[in-house]
Amino acid sequence: MRVDLKDPHRYPLLRFRTVSFNHKSLCHWDFWRMSTTGEIEQSYRGVQTHMEALDRLMGEILSADVGCVDDMLKYAGRYSGKRLRPALVFIIGDMCGETTDKHVRLGAVVELIHMATLVHDDVLDRATIRRNHDSVNIRWNNKDAILLGDIMFARAIRLLVTIGNMRALDLLTGAVSTICEGEIQQNQLSGDFSVDFVTYKQIIERKTASLYAAGCELAALLGGANEKLVTAFSNFGMSLGTAFQVIDDCLDLTGDENVVGKSLGTDIKNGKMTLPLIHLLAELTGAEKTQVEELIQRDNCTNEEVKEIRVLLADHGSIDHSLSLARGYVQESLSPLRDLLPARDFAVVEEIAGFVLERRL
Ligand code: FPP
Ligand code: MG
Repeated sequence: MRVDLKDPHRYPLLRFRTVSFNHKSLCHWDFWRMSTTGEIEQSYRGVQTHMEALDRLMGEILSADVGCVDDMLKYAGRYSGKRLRPALVFIIGDMCGETTDKHVRLGAVVELIHMATLVHDDVLDRATIRRNHDSVNIRWNNKDAILLGDIMFARAIRLLVTIGNMRALDLLTGAVSTICEGEIQQNQLSGDFSVDFVTYKQIIERKTASLYAAGCELAALLGGANEKLVTAFSNFGMSLGTAFQVIDDCLDLTGDENVVGKSLGTDIKNGKMTLPLIHLLAELTGAEKTQVEELIQRDNCTNEEVKEIRVLLADHGSIDHSLSLARGYVQESLSPLRDLLPARDFAVVEEIAGFVLERRL
C-alpha cells in the first residue's frame, strides 16, 4: 500500500510536518510528562530524540477545531504518563536495526490506543481520579468520555494507516479486539469466586499485555529484525504487560492514592477477581473467607473495609506471592533475548523490566 504522507487532505493528523507547531499543546503535554515520570526516564536516554518527536506528534493529534473537543483532548493528554509503550517501541527499533519515522507513528498509535482504553476504563470502573486529577468521566460525564475515547481510538487507527503496513494494521486492530474481549470476560466474571489463576492470566494477557506484545512485535519488525527476534520481542511484550497488570492489581490494593494518582480499591468495589484476591481466598477458611467474599460481592465496600483486606493480604503473603509470579513471567521471556541481543542491549531491556517490576505508580 502506497501512502502519500505529504497529502494534508488525506492525512490531516500529519499536519505537524508542514505547519508550525501548536505551542499551547506542547506546554500542556510537557507539563504532564514531567510531572508523571520517575527514574524510568533514565532508561529513555538513548531514544530522547524519538521521544521528543512523539511529543510533537501527540500534541498535534490531541487537538480539534471544535473548542469543547479540543479541551477534552488536551485534558486527556495527561493520561499519557510514563510513555513506557512508545519508549519500548523506540528502544526495540534501535536494537533491531533502525528507529524511523514509522516507529514514531507506531509509538503514538500504541500510546493513543492505551489512553483511549483508560478513558473508557474509568467509565466502566466508575473511577474518579486519573493522574492525580478528576478522570474525564468526572470532569465531563460518561457519555462524552465514551465519545472522547472513540475519537482517540479512531485517530490512532487513522495514524496507523499512514504507516502503510498491513501486518501492523492487522496486529493492532486485532489487539484492540482482544483488549475488549478481555474486558468483557472480566466484567462477566465479576464477583465470581471460581475465577482461578489461569483465567485471571488469560484476562490480563488480553486486556493489557496484548497491546504491549503487538507494540514490541511491530517495533522489531519495522526495525528489520528476523522472525526469531520478532517473536522473542513479542513474547517479551506479552510477559512484561502481564507483569505490569499484576503490579497494577497489587497497587490497587496496597498503593497510596496520592502516589499512584488514580482511584484505588476499585477492583474490590467492582468485584474484580485479581491475583492477590484469588490467592487470599485460597488461603482463607471459615468466617474470614465468607467475610472477604461478601465484601467483594458488595458494590459499596468502604475504604475502611478495603483497609481490612489489606491487612489480610499482608498476613497471608498474597502481595509477595503475586509479585514473585510477575517476576517469574518476565524472567522467562528475558532468557531468549539474552541469547539474541548484544550484552549492552540486553542490559537496557533488563533495566526496563526492572522498572516495571519495581514501579510504585
Ligand atoms: C485498565 O485496567 C484497563 C485496560 C487495560 C483496558 C480497558 C479497555 C477498555 C475499557 C476497552 C476500550 C476500548 C477502546 C477501543 C477504546 P484496570 O482497571 O485494571 O487499570 P486501572 O487501575 O489503571 O484502572
Ligand atoms: Mg480501571
